[in-house]
Amino acid sequence: MKGVILAGGLATRLRPLTLVTNKHLLPIYNKPMIYYPLEAMRKAGIKEVLLTTSGDHAGHFANLLKNGEDFQLKLYYAVQQNPKGGIADAIALAEEFAHDEPILVLLGDNIFNFNLLEARRKFEVKSKGGMVFGVHKDTESKQYGVIEVDKNGKVLSIEEKPEHPKSDIAQTGIYIYDHTVFACIKHLSPSGRGELEVTDLNNYYLRSGELTCEIIDWWIDAGTSYDELLNANSRVAAMVKEGKL
Ligand code: DAU
Repeated sequence: MKGVILAGGLATRLRPLTLVTNKHLLPIYNKPMIYYPLEAMRKAGIKEVLLTTSGDHAGHFANLLKNGEDFQLKLYYAVQQNPKGGIADAIALAEEFAHDEPILVLLGDNIFNFNLLEARRKFEVKSKGGMVFGVHKDTESKQYGVIEVDKNGKVLSIEEKPEHPKSDIAQTGIYIYDHTVFACIKHLSPSGRGELEVTDLNNYYLRSGELTCEIIDWWIDAGTSYDELLNANSRVAAMVKEGKL
């Protein structure tokens, strides 16, 4: 399995913090934000990672992360021409890199300490379809995709930032896809906000009956607001001091 970390977008919600730098280079307590998904990849046993970002910021990441050696990873870079093309548009950049292997995709602003190794192994047993990761959260805030599951954990629906959420399970920015993901993305059209949406991609897998969901314990999308950025900093600081991270 190969890894893909998305670090593009315009991060308008965090301006002026992001006027001259990329959101994923902002600090989360004692490290740049981008270190967290890279460490999650390493813990999941992934050896090769493609980092996608905008042309303006690719050099900033290369200066910091170089070839990935410090994370025991081989790190590659790809430029997303339209930094707001959407999450699925950025994933599409990994087609050649993936070389027909499944991919673990992490959104670069997601902070969590759930070890993905077990889920990765579970996926590899059938090596087919897609896997999304949900977390119990206040979905009324309309910041997240919302996953509805039945009592056996079967996914019933996924909606992007719905007005009336059908559950309290937020869709995190952690996804595993089989090698058909690139063909699926070619079927997507831009949403109302002009993006190729990850939720549309996941619904594509859902309709084919090949989507499963894992629930993780805690997770923060540090890129949604100043408050969530602050929350991520405080939470990580407390966990580091307690020796849990
Ligand atoms: O973080 C979880 C949420 O991420 C999910 O609950 C939503 O279903 C999903 O659509 C996404 O929502 P956001 O609106 O928060 O996505 P955002 O635009 O903040 O982008 C998330 C990450 O993906 C961020 O690290 C930047 C990167 N990105 C985003 C876009 C739109 C790219 O690399 N390229 C892009 O074109």
